[in-house]
Amino acid sequence: MLVWDSKLDTGIEVIDAQHKRIVTYVNHLEVAKTKGDKTLVGEVIEQLVDYTQSHFSFEESMMEEAGYKFLKPHQKVHELFIKRVTGFTMRAAKGEDVVDELHTMLTTWLINHIASEDHDYASTVQKMLANKAGGQDASDKGKSGFISGLLGRFFRSGGRH
Ligand code: FEO
Repeated sequence: MLVWDSKLDTGIEVIDAQHKRIVTYVNHLEVAKTKGDKTLVGEVIEQLVDYTQSHFSFEESMMEEAGYKFLKPHQKVHELFIKRVTGFTMRAAKGEDVVDELHTMLTTWLINHIASEDHDYASTVQKMLANKAGGQDASDKGKSGFISGLLGRFFRSGGRH
């Protein structure tokens, strides 16, 4: 089971909450795998992919707003991850048992990505959010309005983060 390590914190509350939720999904996958419940495995993978894609879009918008200079390469890394996971789900659809391999890939990839690439944008995004929080228009276009706008845009339920 993955246990959240504070070294993975970006210091951006909304992002850290999403990362923790992704880690929870990976742990759910391990439980489903251990139970040998193929239906549950399929459901968890679908939820994990759906949530991670929403997270990526949310995160990319944060980076874009902050003018983060490595936005494009970061987006590319996200795209490649989705392609890799899609490759696994296609193999699974053909009847191959990929769950162990997928679980290992998710565990290593996500932790490495959060600890390196995500860590890299943290200070730039923190500055952008601090500027919004300190702006005169904080009630509307300020930090909380900006974050809840993005949550509503990328997650099925605005509060789901
Ligand atoms: Fe938090 Fe770049 O994924």
